[in-house]
Amino acid sequence: MRVLAGEPVWPPPIWLMRQAGRYLPEYRAVRAGASDFIALCTTPDLATEVTLQPIRRFGFDAAILFSDILILPWALGYELAFKEAEGPVLPQLATAADVEALEPERLLPSVAPVLETVRHVRAALPAATALIGFAGAPFTVACYMIEGGGSADFARTRKLAYAEPALMHRLIDRLTDTAIAYLGAQIEAGADIVMLFDSWAGVLSTRLFRDHVIDPTRRIAAAIHTRYASVPVIGFPRLAGLSMASYATGTGVDCVGMDTSVDPVLAATLVGPRVALQGNLDPMALVAGGAAMERETEAILVALRGRPHVFNLGHGILPQTSPEHVGALVDLVRGA
Ligand code: CP3
Repeated sequence: MRVLAGEPVWPPPIWLMRQAGRYLPEYRAVRAGASDFIALCTTPDLATEVTLQPIRRFGFDAAILFSDILILPWALGYELAFKEAEGPVLPQLATAADVEALEPERLLPSVAPVLETVRHVRAALPAATALIGFAGAPFTVACYMIEGGGSADFARTRKLAYAEPALMHRLIDRLTDTAIAYLGAQIEAGADIVMLFDSWAGVLSTRLFRDHVIDPTRRIAAAIHTRYASVPVIGFPRLAGLSMASYATGTGVDCVGMDTSVDPVLAATLVGPRVALQGNLDPMALVAGGAAMERETEAILVALRGRPHVFNLGHGILPQTSPEHVGALVDLVRGA
């Protein structure tokens, strides 16, 4: 919380994106007992347990709510399934009628079990461990809705943003309003920090990045800061490249997440000294472990020493990661 308020802290705090997940045998055991992934996300006892597992094992400085960015459209009545080995499958949003069919009034009743999880997790966590709530940023959620799932190039989404700007803006506006309501409810339930995952921000041109990434993120950050002055906002504009600078100044987030491709030395010059940086060890370096992981980690620590920095990966932890390597990373950062 001090780092996110703009204070350099040494050694930096550490948590990892996707720190609850398939690389942990205790996660796989709980997952095997749930009927499907959405049930895991919406059964408070199970979601609470998997949120706490990495905290018990590694003592991270923050827990992140176990859920998924696609729970938001699901909560608006948009169909969603997670298929084994295929990932998320949704209908392909294509028309204004599809946007009008979203049901914002269903949001809070649908996410009631998620909010219950937040309350249970906050009550179970040590006082010194922060709880991070999150939502998918509007653009990245729109990507999955328009494509009907993941995509190599998000061609349908990029084309729609050019060919049907009014429709795209309407969808982004809807998702912005619902993200504000959803994150506010997570804060009311006990989240100390909120994070916006914009995993596909990097596929947009500079102008579309301003319209669909910076503008909605600024609206969300401003709404959170107005209502909850002490709650910091972390933004993760993955693969945004040099647009990281306009993202930091244009959105007003308290912390910018750096993806694996970002040079932390350059990021420190692009982003003002009061805005924290988060990241950005390559998840594959954590899979490899050993001296390579140590070298990469030390370079990041040195580059950001003296400015507010939250140590993390540059993207989510990979399922083939050895839990022993994660323990070694935590020791390395804590011993810096
Ligand atoms: O970080 C955390 O530990 C919190 C939980 C969390 C999950 N997904 C759990 C999850 C968070 C914050 C997310 C965010 C998310 N979900 C993003 C943004 C971050 C990123 O990775 O780029 C995106 C794009 C999604 C959408 C999504 N969810 C996909 C594409 C998939 C399938 C890919 C995969 O890894 O299987 C998911 C499923 C998912 N979400 C899993 C987990 C642990 C794996 C499901 C399983 O256990 O089988």
